[in-house]
Amino acid sequence: MKAVVLVGGEGTRLRPLTFRTPKPLLTIANQPFLERQLSWMGRHGVTEVVLSLGYLPDAFVAHFPDGEFEGIRLRYAVEPEPLGTAGAVRFAADLAGVDERFFVCNGDVLTTLDLGALAAFHDEREAMATIHLVRVADPSAFGVVPTFDDGEVKAFVEKPPPGQAPTDWINAGTYVLEPSVLDRIPADINSSIERETFPRMLDQRGQLYAMQSDGYWLDIGTPDKYLAAHADVISGALGLPPVAGAVEEEPGIWLEPGAVVDPSTRLVPPVLVGRDAAIGPGAWVSGTSIGAGCTVGYGARVARSVLHDGAVVGRAADVADCVLGRDVEVPEAAVLRDALRVCEPA
Ligand code: GDD
Ligand code: MG
Repeated sequence: MKAVVLVGGEGTRLRPLTFRTPKPLLTIANQPFLERQLSWMGRHGVTEVVLSLGYLPDAFVAHFPDGEFEGIRLRYAVEPEPLGTAGAVRFAADLAGVDERFFVCNGDVLTTLDLGALAAFHDEREAMATIHLVRVADPSAFGVVPTFDDGEVKAFVEKPPPGQAPTDWINAGTYVLEPSVLDRIPADINSSIERETFPRMLDQRGQLYAMQSDGYWLDIGTPDKYLAAHADVISGALGLPPVAGAVEEEPGIWLEPGAVVDPSTRLVPPVLVGRDAAIGPGAWVSGTSIGAGCTVGYGARVARSVLHDGAVVGRAADVADCVLGRDVEVPEAAVLRDALRVCEPA
């Protein structure tokens, strides 16, 4: 099957990390998020992916210069201006010449969903479109989707005010669409699949369905969730090793080749130490993902954080709930809390 992956958004909630790197190319546990998503699709039989691009499109082309990843053919649909989630799907599907049912995925969703099961659910109901649903504690930040017992969608309410959601089952951002859905999306103008296409399909019964699942699911698009995704991936919540080549030294402690951890350093799981990174002596690192070539100095403390490649935590510094972008340096003895830091452009 073909898939359209929506990766055109600006990732505003992850600024400044996303000023120079689009959200899907930010790493999760030292692997670009989009690579993880493509591997997931490949495992479920997707052979061709159209990347629906708008923001920083050249970064994607540079990242996959051969137009291929793990045997999946990649095509690039670059919007002249943002077309919204529906307009983007139409634009990308037209470019790829989609002529049978296809998947659409939001480009920031980390999940173990069985895509084959979603397609089978769709086929059994002869649906025009089928939405994957998951249950969350606070549905107000999502598309809320009550259904009948057979999965037919009753309503689609995008981001209701807090406390007013009719259910806690939400749109998980993966769909199966028939090509006929494309005829309902106007070409070349901005429109929203959540606010326009799906609600309008409810004018007639028997068209829009949704499948609930209880597997792992997370939208990585906010700082809290971006940090949480690392802890989940490193602790094995997705049922996979965190990153190819890493070795589990102790339960929840993973080291990549060339990583050097001083014996006097304490690591509290989940921790991933990247290639050629150097930690300690006397450091204390808990719940943290450390990129290639990073340094954590003597006696430093790092908790619930993410260090992108080349970041440096100075001696006796104290860092918690932070993302340190590539090559960011935290000075000796500095205290840093709840921060997203990037290097200023040279
Ligand atoms: N190509 C393109 N063009 N992509 C876009 C555009 C656009 O104009 N606008 C947004 N996107 C992409 C984003 O890059 C992202 O991958 C995806 O569409 C969803 O946008 P978000 O900005 O992340 O939306 P959200 O997280 O607030 O809400 C969406 O996802 C939730 C699940 O995580 C909605 O689909 C909700 O209904 C859903 O519950
Ligand atoms: Mg999102």
